[in-house]
Amino acid sequence: MKRIVIFASGSGSNAENIICSLAGNKFLSFPMIISNRRDVFVHERAERIGVPSFFFSKQQFEDGDVLKFLLGHGIDFIVLAGFLLRVPVNLLQTFHDRIINIHPALLPKFGGQGMYGDRVHEAVVAAGERESGITIHYVNENYDEGRIIFQARCIVNPDDTPGAVAARVHELEYRYFPKVIEQLAILS
Ligand code: GAR
Repeated sequence: MKRIVIFASGSGSNAENIICSLAGNKFLSFPMIISNRRDVFVHERAERIGVPSFFFSKQQFEDGDVLKFLLGHGIDFIVLAGFLLRVPVNLLQTFHDRIINIHPALLPKFGGQGMYGDRVHEAVVAAGERESGITIHYVNENYDEGRIIFQARCIVNPDDTPGAVAARVHELEYRYFPKVIEQLAILS
């Protein structure tokens, strides 16, 4: 049984979708969600679906408190789903190639620090792109630069708003992220 933790900083719709989609998989479990923010909706979602959620400060991530907590709970694999802190070296070393992230665009375009959530879709529309999509990648010390594992694309129409692009990208996230996690975590 592989024990997967999800890190999320905001709404947590991907966290909820991943856990609910993979609830029937006998080889995976999702014992907790961790957030670097106290007052975000992911905690409410976690409660609703019966998964414990915990807050840790940036300092606690950096000081190794989160690492100790995860090791103490036998965690095997980390999924970033809308998580906005840079992952500290202590986690990257211990969970080498066992931390993945989803980015709501086709990396290497529209990535990097400050590029998250709606800002990404606004940039895609402002640049006149004709397509966008999702990128699932391993996490390293730089934002959005780890090895790419999977991409899926959607079209962007000339009159699309950032909200319209976001909706199409979210659909791709909900459809593919659980499947990719399932394959990688079982093999990890
Ligand atoms: C998702 O679209 C995810 O791809 C994005 O934040 C959103 C979180 O939504 N992540 C990034 O932009 C990372 N750079 P959610 O909290 O509803 O899952």
